[in-house]
Amino acid sequence: MGYSVAIDGPAGAGKSTIAKQIARKLDFIYVDTGAMYRAMAYYLLQNHVDASDTAAIDVKCREADIRIRYENKEQQVWLNGENVNGMIRTEEVGNMASASSVNPNVRAKLVELQRKMAETDNVIMDGRDIGTTVLPNADVKIYLTAGSHVRARRRYEELKEKGTICDLETIERDIIERDERDMNREISPLRQAEDAVLVDSSDMTVEEVLGTIEEVIREDRGRKGLL
Ligand code: DC
Repeated sequence: MGYSVAIDGPAGAGKSTIAKQIARKLDFIYVDTGAMYRAMAYYLLQNHVDASDTAAIDVKCREADIRIRYENKEQQVWLNGENVNGMIRTEEVGNMASASSVNPNVRAKLVELQRKMAETDNVIMDGRDIGTTVLPNADVKIYLTAGSHVRARRRYEELKEKGTICDLETIERDIIERDERDMNREISPLRQAEDAVLVDSSDMTVEEVLGTIEEVIREDRGRKGLL
């Protein structure tokens, strides 16, 4: 087992921004588990599977061969032999990922992949159920959150920068709907693990969030004689 940092929290809290930077500084592998659920959702959308059709998802998810590779330390998700990194960042795929990730077979398959990655490497892994389910013995657990309005605005700015036409109100509505579903599903709902450190980034800059989380990791590694 490598050293592991789990970062969970709702959509748009800034998990990937933070996790990427920490991974670079510590030379850990950044594992973006949302990208795996997105790749699965992309496959389901391509196959015109309805998010509510559990039986079809059960069958189709078996056909999806999802693999993770790293290029220049950037995670790349491969779906049935195709690099789909450039296809999975849309709101449509994100909403489908939230809907299809309630499926137990989808979760079992991806959780196994995630655990395997943490077996061999030092990882910083972000998602919804990392501290509670995927890596319950993670060395450090962070629950990173922010108010829905702040998260919607951040996502809006991000999409606008990429040149995507979007509407702030729709994004906030989508975020609230996804929070609802991610927090209330039956299997591994999004919640703060008992031993996770809560960081609310609503009124914090990226640097402040980074500093706070880095300090938690530094303390833990110091205690374990890893510095
Ligand atoms: O973090 P993200 O927006 O890329 O995640 C997309 C969806 O995938 C999210 O709304 C719920 C699901 N997901 C999950 O159920 N468990 C994870 N560990 C990561 C993501």
